[in-house]
Amino acid sequence: LATKEVDIGAVEVGSGIKVMWQGKPVFIRHRTEREIEEARAVPLTALKDPVARNENLGGSPEATDDNRVENPAWMIVLGVCTHLGCVPLGTDEGDNKGDYNGWFCPCHGSHYDTSGRIRKGPAPQNLDVPPYAFLTETTLRIG
Ligand code: FES
Repeated sequence: LATKEVDIGAVEVGSGIKVMWQGKPVFIRHRTEREIEEARAVPLTALKDPVARNENLGGSPEATDDNRVENPAWMIVLGVCTHLGCVPLGTDEGDNKGDYNGWFCPCHGSHYDTSGRIRKGPAPQNLDVPPYAFLTETTLRIG
């Protein structure tokens, strides 16, 4: 599996970047406290997809925010809508983040929350969390 190292030191709180890994976009978002709280406050019963979809965890753990992140400040997901594979918006400034303040897929209207979980629209699953590790506080290895 090819890996990629990303310097995230310049990604300010409340912003994000998009990098390519294995030909796919990966969203790296430096979440605000409010975004983290929003994600944690969602009851599991409100989730369309109850599974964490986190490749860093074995089994099929529940889609709590805790199970979707290693460090709550950093949300790292594949930028591939689980409906038909479009790249959702929400990473660049001024993007439509959808009704749940996370990511929005304009192809058919899927709304993802600040944990990258599907909340509304046709997408069946949460955005996948790729394998990753923090090598230092500011260096992320994907893959
Ligand atoms: Fe994203 Fe259809 S591909 S909503």
